[in-house]
Amino acid sequence: MSDIKIKIKDREGVSHEVDAPTDMNMNLMEVVRSYELAPEGTIGVCGGMAMCASCQCYVHSDHALPEKSDDEDAMLAEAFYVEENSRLGCQIHMTEDLDGLEVELAPES
Ligand code: FES
Repeated sequence: MSDIKIKIKDREGVSHEVDAPTDMNMNLMEVVRSYELAPEGTIGVCGGMAMCASCQCYVHSDHALPEKSDDEDAMLAEAFYVEENSRLGCQIHMTEDLDGLEVELAPES
């Protein structure tokens, strides 16, 4: 079992350093939910299907992330508060090369 460290800034601007397991097939949205860093019902609304953008986050570190899928691209094209570094948290799976990742939750829309 191996955990990685991830820094997540919540919607109130508070930073949290959390451990995320890489052996449970979790994505970033599920990590945020498991630490209750956003109120229930405000993140992960579509269950991680790239269909709601409630899990949007800004990636501040320069980790090489997997390419966006067409679904993620299409969802971000419709979402609010989208920036250059926006990604859907539910599409980012926890892998060892993401150790030290720094993200910020996008505002609720
Ligand atoms: S949880 Fe709906 S897009 Fe990520």
